[in-house]
Amino acid sequence: MAELSMATFTDTVIGAIGPGATPRVRTVMTALIRHLHDFAREVKLTTPEYRAACDFIVRIGRMSDDKRNEAVLASDVFGLESLVDVLDHHHAERGAATDSAVLGPFWREHSPLLDHGASIVRGGQEGESVFVCGRVLGVNGRPVGNARIAVWETAPNGLYEQQDPEQPDFNLRGQFCTDAEGRYAFRALRPIAYPIPFDGPAGELLQMMDRHPFRPAHIHFRVRAPGYHELVTQIFDRDDRYLASDSVFAVKDSLTVEFRPAPAGADTRWHVAFDIVLEPLAG
Ligand code: BEZ
Ligand code: FE
Repeated sequence: MAELSMATFTDTVIGAIGPGATPRVRTVMTALIRHLHDFAREVKLTTPEYRAACDFIVRIGRMSDDKRNEAVLASDVFGLESLVDVLDHHHAERGAATDSAVLGPFWREHSPLLDHGASIVRGGQEGESVFVCGRVLGVNGRPVGNARIAVWETAPNGLYEQQDPEQPDFNLRGQFCTDAEGRYAFRALRPIAYPIPFDGPAGELLQMMDRHPFRPAHIHFRVRAPGYHELVTQIFDRDDRYLASDSVFAVKDSLTVEFRPAPAGADTRWHVAFDIVLEPLAG
């Protein structure tokens, strides 16, 4: 066996990629190997540190199940989901489409389809009520009817329903369809800032780096309409103290909204208007 020379070691590992690798696998793995090796060289990674990193990945896996995705959490702490979101969603640069924001680990498919204006509160905790409404439009300004908008948020205790056995199934989640004018509306609770789960490896990262775990108050949106790019985004409370230090780096100025006192006679305390602009698939 030929002795491995440090000068050519990285090229040797990259050169071991076989002819059957797809072009994309070759591109990604070549860059990954190069960056991993450069990283280890730059920080002069020690054997105990290397073993701790492997153990860290094992613990991420052990802590994850269908209700908790520690891999997403850990990557979020590094800003990776937000970076990929920016790299992969350049629609807003090309037109007037609404900015995207990270999906995060707490999305659930198949939340209840509710009537226009219905409440996503299914029980449990007290909170301040809010009416959220707006229109879904194409970049040409035309309304998008029959768009499906899924929304989700934490309860006032900072927990999503799947994290909290005290909350009813699908509490604070729902889906709404836009009407022919592109209008949607729902009732919810004014969101609060909450900490991402920090009792596992992601929390260890935060602690090591002397960072707090909080996300600014937000409501998640996932908008799907035939003929348009899917939009995954969040609206953020413009008055939140954590806007500039989101633990997962997902805030975009264009996504901050004002929670205004609702008009007299309204049945909620707060009112938020948020229009959503979608990019057509061919655009
Ligand atoms: C969320 O907003 O639900 C979230 C996003 C990233 C990491 C943790 C939570
Ligand atoms: Fe969230």
